[in-house]
This record gives sequence, structure tokens and C-alpha cells, in this order.
Amino acid sequence: MYSSIDLDKININAAPPAEEPARQYYFMAKCRQHVREESARLGRPLGAAVVNFGCQMNARDAEKLQGILEAIGYETANEDEADFVIYNTCTVRENANLRVYGRLGQLGKRKRKNPDMIIGLCGCMMQEPEVIDKIRKSFRFVDLVFGTHNIYKFAELMASRIESGDMVIDIWKDTDAIVEDLPSKRKYPFKSGVNIMFGCNNFCSYCIVPYVRGRERSRSPEDIIREIEALTADGVAEVMLLGQNVNSYGKTLKEPVTFAQLLGKIEKIEGLKRIRFMTSHPKDLSDELIEVMAGSKKICRHLHLPVQSGSSRILQKMNRRYTKEQYLALVGRLRDKMPDISLTTDIIVGFPGETEEDFQETMDLVRKVRYDSAFTFLYSRRTGTPAAAMEDQVPENVMKERFDRLLSEVQAIAAEVCSIHEGHIAEVLVENVNEQDAGLVTGRMSNNILVHFPGDAGLIGKLIMVRLTEAKGFYYMGEAV
Ligand code: SAH
Ligand code: SF4
Ligand code: F3S
Repeated sequence: MYSSIDLDKININAAPPAEEPARQYYFMAKCRQHVREESARLGRPLGAAVVNFGCQMNARDAEKLQGILEAIGYETANEDEADFVIYNTCTVRENANLRVYGRLGQLGKRKRKNPDMIIGLCGCMMQEPEVIDKIRKSFRFVDLVFGTHNIYKFAELMASRIESGDMVIDIWKDTDAIVEDLPSKRKYPFKSGVNIMFGCNNFCSYCIVPYVRGRERSRSPEDIIREIEALTADGVAEVMLLGQNVNSYGKTLKEPVTFAQLLGKIEKIEGLKRIRFMTSHPKDLSDELIEVMAGSKKICRHLHLPVQSGSSRILQKMNRRYTKEQYLALVGRLRDKMPDISLTTDIIVGFPGETEEDFQETMDLVRKVRYDSAFTFLYSRRTGTPAAAMEDQVPENVMKERFDRLLSEVQAIAAEVCSIHEGHIAEVLVENVNEQDAGLVTGRMSNNILVHFPGDAGLIGKLIMVRLTEAKGFYYMGEAV
């Protein structure tokens, strides 16, 4: 494992090894040499900032980038002071892209004053050819560009930029490779994301993710268990298993394993207290999984179950492969086995061809399910997806007006649903000292709701029984019992 590798023992004058991850450790050692020389020249340590956009998958990737930067010898710095800045981008909706271009413009101004600065771009947006064209043309000051498939080559690409002094662009269309055992720097000491699979094969008609993250591939159960065992030994109490569609985990492995079976193995890891996962696709959520969840002591009582629309007609055009009725039946089965389960969702408003009647179906579904919370999105047209070419794109004003109606319905219901636990005693995993009031700590219940209660930093990472004294809409005030 990484912690046992001493970069100083690697001979950087020899040729690079061909096998992974040894090859990357060789390039880390090379980059480290450069960082040492630079900081001796400047008389100060070098700083790096990883700026993350997008989902939990990207957040986990950012920790890997951070781990490599640390191994190379960079200290963590703020974006506006860093010698090395890397944007890990998202392209799921257009406004995610626009934010990146805006911030990149600002960064370019800083680089004009500090020419030694290194600017990197990676992540989902870089998998789009039009984006690469635009960077080549309009953002010439960028040093390093790579995508989602070769992120493990970060050190190698950086070494090549340092040697050549030219812009390095390396984008792969897809990959089967999963490189294990590279460094990673966790954001929280007590919880961690763990990738169980990469990519997506679902091709929902609005979604760009399958094009930028490639085909679905699962890590082996042994590698996953090994990683979680190492994390628990290092103080992690809670893991979040990550995949675009965790319910289809293991189908493509040589010896297929179901997601429910994987959960069964993870449950047995001693010292691990809580298991979360996301995202679940409703079409693949099995009764086997419901049974495992219901019988588990560690799997949290929370399920993020994106519905996207309440209209079966729109769901079909979205290629979601379930109907409103099937989704509601699934929610019924879940609540039947776990009456206290918290349900959250994602909803897209204004998919092409959505009529007021379709939208009313979504409102009706939201009233029937009564979500603990819901992320609502305005449909965003993504080039290359089937939905982008569909007729009847919904006008922006109509979309926005529906969005506002949905949001207020969702929020009103969530406030009611979240307050039903008042007076109960719940187990809370303490995450941090409260930002506004240093006499309080903040933690999460199994159902993901936040609780603030009197305590100090010594409680961070511990599971504490807390009486929920007062519901405050989306969070609780409490006291340890
Ligand atoms: N794999 C996950 C979600 C990935 S993207 C799943 O299937 O649920 C996260 C959310 O972004 C999606 O659930 C969807 O609600 C939203 N989203 C994806 N593409 C979008 C688009 N083109 N416009 C608006 N929202 C979109
Ligand atoms: Fe996108 Fe659908 Fe795959 Fe989720 S399941 S990432 S929404 S294509
Ligand atoms: Fe965005 Fe890529 Fe995640 S497009 S939502 S960062 S998989």
C-alpha cells in the first residue's frame, strides 16, 4: 500500500517502470525533485489548490489528486495564493461549465503576474472535444489538461509538463483499467467516499455522464474490502460507497457479485460503524437489497432514489425504464420493510415535451412520496445527448415557473417530514465544531439530517446518542443523553 512506499528510494535516473502503480510512484519522485528545487530557489514551500466542481465521484477524485500533490511535496494552499491550481470540472449542466470558464479567466490574470504558476484542468468537462478546442484557442495559459479515464496518470503528466514546458493535453475516450493503491488525502478523518464502480451504461437521454465517464466497470470486492479495512484502521467510522448506479454493481465482473452481497461483506468489517451509498437507480433496486438494508445494523436509513419525473410518458422519453406506478410501488416496498427510512431524490423540470399535465404528475408524485429532501434541476441541453435533438424544447420562462412551484412544494413537505423526529433519541456521528457557535458540535443522524448539540472537538468522529429537543425545519437542536 502507498504508506509503505518511500519515494526517496526510487532511482529517478533509471527508465520509468512500465507497470502501474510503480510507474506513477516513479513520476511522483521526479516531480518531488522539481518541487524541492523550486522551493529552495524561492526560499519557501510551494502551495497547491484542488478546486472541485460536481458530484461525490469528483470529490473522491479530488482527494486522489490532493494525495498525489502532497506526496510530490506541495502544501495545501488557497486558490488565490497557490503555485499550482487544478480545476476538477463537471459538465452535467451547462451552468457548471460556465462557472469554470469564468473562474479560469480570473486565474489567467493571476498567471500573467506569476508566470511560474502551473494551471491544470481535469474531470468530466475535459472529455468533451469542443471544450478542448476552446481551451486550445482561448485559454492558452493552461499547462495541463487530462480527463476522467487517465486521472491516475496525474504525476506522469505533470512530469512531462515540467520537462517540456509546453501545454500537455492527454484525453482518453474510455478505459478498462482501474489502477489501485495510489495516494489519497481524505477531507475528513472519520468518513470517506469509496468508489465501487466507475462509468455508466444507462444512457438516460438527457445525461452526458455516460459519454464523459465511459462504460460501467466495477472494482473487485477484494479491493473494495481491503480499502475499507485500511480506512477503518485509520479512524474512519463511515463510508459512502460511490457509483453512478450502485444497484448494478458487480454485473460485469468475471465472477459476478450483487450489490447486496457486497454490502453483506462490508457489514462484517470490524470497527466500521456506518455504510452509505449513492446513487441508486430505481430500475435496478432489488428486493434482495431491501432485505439486506432492513436487516443491517450499519447501513444508514437513507436512500437517495432519483425519480427525475413523475410522468410515465416523460420517463419513457428519458429512457429511465420505469413508470410512475413502478416507482411508487418500489417506495411502498421500501417503507413496508423500513418505515423510518428517509428518502431523497433528484427531479428535472422542463425536459423536452414536458406539458403542464406531465408536470402535474411530478407534483402528484412528490405529494405521494413526501421526500425528506429533493434536488430540483432545470433541464439543461447537453450536446450529443439524444434529448438535445428532441423537438418541443420547453421555453425557459415556462420551465422556471414550474421549477418555482415544484421547489416550494418540495420544501414545504420536507420541513414537515424532517420534524417528525422531535423528542426522539437518535445516534449522531459528530462531524465538526459548529461554525457559528463554538460551544456546539454538529453531526448527522443515520437518515442524514443534521443535529447541533453542546459538545467539543473531542467528540468529532464519535457516535453519540442525542435527544432531538427541537426541530428547526431541516435540522435539529439536541442534547447528548
Ligand atoms: N447517476 C445518478 C445521477 C448523476 S447526475 C443517477 O442516475 O441518478 C445527478 C443529477 O443531475 C441527475 O440525477 C439529474 O437529476 C441531474 N441531471 C443530469 N443531467 C441533467 C441535465 N441535462 N439537465 C438537468 N439536470 C440533469
Ligand atoms: Fe446519467 Fe442516467 Fe447514468 Fe445517472 S443513470 S449517470 S442520470 S445516464
Ligand atoms: Fe458532473 Fe462528472 Fe459528476 S459531469 S455530476 S462531475 S460524473
